[in-house]
Amino acid sequence: MTAGTGQPVVAPPAGAVADRVVVVTGASRGVGRDLARVFADHGARVGLLARSRDALDDLTGTLTADGADVFAAACDVGEPDSLAGAVDAVAGHFGRIDSVVVNAGISPVARRAHHLPIEAWHDVLAVNLTGGFVTARAAYPHLARSGHGRLVFTTSVMAATPRRGLSAYAASKAGLEGLTRALAADWAGDGILVNAVAPGFFDTGLGAAFHTSQRLREQVVGRTPVARFGRADELAAAFLFLAGDACGYLTGQVLAVDGGYGLG
Ligand SMILES: NC(=O)c1ccc[n+]([C@@H]2O[C@H](COP(=O)([O-])OP(=O)(O)OC[C@H]3O[C@@H](n4cnc5c(N)ncnc54)[C@H](OP(=O)(O)O)[C@@H]3O)[C@@H](O)[C@H]2O)c1
Repeated sequence: MTAGTGQPVVAPPAGAVADRVVVVTGASRGVGRDLARVFADHGARVGLLARSRDALDDLTGTLTADGADVFAAACDVGEPDSLAGAVDAVAGHFGRIDSVVVNAGISPVARRAHHLPIEAWHDVLAVNLTGGFVTARAAYPHLARSGHGRLVFTTSVMAATPRRGLSAYAASKAGLEGLTRALAADWAGDGILVNAVAPGFFDTGLGAAFHTSQRLREQVVGRTPVARFGRADELAAAFLFLAGDACGYLTGQVLAVDGGYGLG
């Protein structure tokens, strides 16, 4: 196949992140820990961010023993100075940052909106939405310098199709999807592509809560056209694509990896 110019068209393989420096927030467990492993396995140098120093040290040890090049910086995404210091520490260690996966997130309570304490609303918005903005802003100078900046937010199928009791979480993730489009418009001129992955239900992290109830699990599976929970590798494939070289002309998009749950 050739382009209109007659040049051969050879797209990089999906997941081409070799030698890129990729930062993953929320890397201490769950989805972020899985993603850190997958990026490292694909040859990326990986910056690991989260609050839990012990968990980060454990992951660093495991990945380093397998030959990966990783660097951890503990921080709280709810505290802009802490977060900015960690992003700069990763850039200082590796000399650059090419891709950032904004994955840290919480969903501490499931309570219908009229019973939700305002403190819980603020907590969820502070980490999931403001934390996402703060992370993106701290990453901006590094991504702009990269010449190949990629920013990927982890949102949720709950942004568009919320379950009962998740008003703060759904609003925070819908806000992130708006932010994805806004930053895509702001930063395309700086060579930064901004996209989001909206996971459905996975057997890890927050999704594991659905295993505690057979009824909840059956509800989810019954509504999902693919009729099962997703696997970590199926979720990672979307992040690898959006954070890597194969993604070149796609920005401001939300990729739902949900087995069709969002189809209704
Ligand atoms: N698992 C699923 O099925 C699913 C589905 C849809 C969307 N998601 C999204 O996927 C992302 C990861 O969730 P998960 O399921 O992996 O949940 P998880 O296992 O609870 O992991 C959450 C991660 O975020 C970090 N984090 C939380 N608050 C933080 C803060 N203030 N500062 C820095 N890091 C913080 C945690 O690390 P520390 O506690 O060490 O700080 C942890 O690494 C979230 O954005 C979530 O909304 C997950």
